Amino acid sequence: ETGMFTYDPGFTSTASCESQITYIDGDKGTLLYRGYPIDQLADHSNFIEVCYLLMKGNLPSKDELETFDWTIRRHSMLHDQFDQFFRGFRRDAHPMAIMVGTVGALSAFYHDSTDVNDPAARTIASHRMIAKMPTIAARAFKYAVGQPFISPRNDMDYAANFLRMCFAVPAEDYESNAVLAKAMDKIFILHADHEQNASTSTVRLAGSSGANPFACIAAGIASLWGPAHGGANEAALNMLNEIGSVDKIPEYVRKAKDKSDPFRLMGFGHRVYKNYDPRAKVMRDTCHEVLDVLGVRNDPTLQVAMELERIALEDPYFVEKKLYPNIDFYSGITLKAMGFPTEMFTVLFALARTVGWIAQWSEMIEDPTQKIGRPRQLFTGATPRDYLDLSKR
Ligand code: SDX
Repeated sequence: ETGMFTYDPGFTSTASCESQITYIDGDKGTLLYRGYPIDQLADHSNFIEVCYLLMKGNLPSKDELETFDWTIRRHSMLHDQFDQFFRGFRRDAHPMAIMVGTVGALSAFYHDSTDVNDPAARTIASHRMIAKMPTIAARAFKYAVGQPFISPRNDMDYAANFLRMCFAVPAEDYESNAVLAKAMDKIFILHADHEQNASTSTVRLAGSSGANPFACIAAGIASLWGPAHGGANEAALNMLNEIGSVDKIPEYVRKAKDKSDPFRLMGFGHRVYKNYDPRAKVMRDTCHEVLDVLGVRNDPTLQVAMELERIALEDPYFVEKKLYPNIDFYSGITLKAMGFPTEMFTVLFALARTVGWIAQWSEMIEDPTQKIGRPRQLFTGATPRDYLDLSKR
């Protein structure tokens, strides 16, 4: 049987599904959501509209957008008892661990939307997850810093409301900053979907068995956590902190090029983009806007980031291998400037990617040709042999 299957480690040349959601041309640096270029969406749309687009396939009319927006706002609260889940974690728990646990636990709260064969239940589950993810993410943050949870406010936009739930403190006025809220919204748009990446493939594989959508999204969060994937924004910032000062950069660039050294420049390179990551372009501009509005250009970590970017873009090794700073390099710097601790970076990625996971999961469930995911293997183990009694071994 061994010779019957194609060996494709890392699935570099295997399409696992047909999809109409996101198109990437890695050589040209193109990324389209349902046909719309990512830069146009980042500049002119907003995250809620992009959610509608990804889920339903077309941009909404004014009425459709209003209804969808209201529906998402209406679902933003968490059941009061849900707070017990957060309080069960150690204070120093990684917020991604909290996300995996609590999002999976939604399955235990919303029994009415776990039937994957019921289209209405699937829709409600989708709305619930998009709506509740900021509330869950903000609670993970508040729990870590030891501050009281802040409830969602349905009169605020998605991104502004999320920032308020993270940074407002009871009994103190909270002024939302329009530039930061816009930047947050853009970060969400840029991370919303990216076709069959590791976490999305995980969601599809989990969902292919008929598992409930909350459990599938929890699986996606687990996969996203790794430093080669969504954990790269956190890893990139940790790396910048480790480098520490501009004069140490050449040493780290040398390490990254050394094949016998496992060190890699985090936030550089991409499986599909071998030209540039179109999201990184937008993210870089947003990053600079945020640094300017906050007046933090002199922050040492950020200076290391800017200098590393300059050096790596000129170094022949990185140029020849077409290794560019990816979206997570710039999003990490932006989020740090906005006041998020590094442990929260991947949580924000998960928050934004939830709609992509949901759109891809729904597409799979509605696709009559999809079957349970069940890869085969090239067996390289022992040939048949007879059991040997313990006394004879
Ligand atoms: C995301 O898939 C998606 O779409 C993911 C994502 C999404 O939106 O869902 O875009 C989000 O995950 C972004 C990627 C974030 N990861 C990082 O920033 C971590 C650092 N990057 C690398 O680990 C790596 O570049 C990957 C994982 C992103 C891509 O890995 P590949 O496609 O398997 O490429 P590779 O590891 O085979 O690298 C090719 C060559 C190798 O050298 P050679 O063996 O050919 O000589 O480039 C070298 C690598 O050693 N290389 C690097 C490098 N990345 C690749 N060398 C130094 N520093 C690096 N960062």
